[in-house]
Amino acid sequence: MKIRSADFVMSNSNVINAPKERLPEYAFIGRSNVGKSSLINMLMERKDLAKISGKPGKTQLINHFKINEEWFLVDLPGYGYAQISKKKRTIFQFFIENYFKEREQLVCTFVLIDSRHDPQKIDIEFMQFLGENQIPFCLVFTKADKLGSSKLNKQITAYKKILLDSWETLPMTFLTSSSTGLGRKEFLDFIGSVNED
Ligand code: GTP
Ligand code: MG
Repeated sequence: MKIRSADFVMSNSNVINAPKERLPEYAFIGRSNVGKSSLINMLMERKDLAKISGKPGKTQLINHFKINEEWFLVDLPGYGYAQISKKKRTIFQFFIENYFKEREQLVCTFVLIDSRHDPQKIDIEFMQFLGENQIPFCLVFTKADKLGSSKLNKQITAYKKILLDSWETLPMTFLTSSSTGLGRKEFLDFIGSVNED
């Protein structure tokens, strides 16, 4: 798929205010700082369409972008960021959960995992939440440029093995780097093929 246009539409803290237009939608979720906003910019070949930061907790709202006038891409706040207040964390959790439960046009969710990290309880629990709510998801390993290829393969194989303890089949996976552009074509071709179905 070629990207012809990528426009910011709106930010919300409540899914009921999200765009009403019935376009297929794809959401990006994962722990704070995993690289959700960076991946969106890499895919769209835009430097600062989504705001990024070295500090976790940058994205704090549900952000809708309209791509090619055909589909929505959604940048979500990260989960599992210990530094925000408990009250704020509860609010985040509420609106993120609500987003997933209410957004009917959501086609697929991309759960991002830092390639360097071993499976974390919060990610596994989040995938379970998606499964329980019958929300299709793919796994995206990010920051692949930070590891050598043999370490990277080892890490991903170990990750998948642990997932098989709780899942019968593995979700589709992508390997990406926002620094090198790795995975861009596969990612966009996947979305393009789903949109055509
Ligand atoms: P929150 O909005 O805080 O939840 O974070 P996020 O998941 O949107 O992460 P963001 O895209 O803001 O990136 C966090 C940090 O990781 C930034 O310093 C990025 O430059 C860096 N980063 C993201 N992706 C990559 C990558 O593929 N490779 C490298 N080397 N750094 C990356
Ligand atoms: Mg972000």
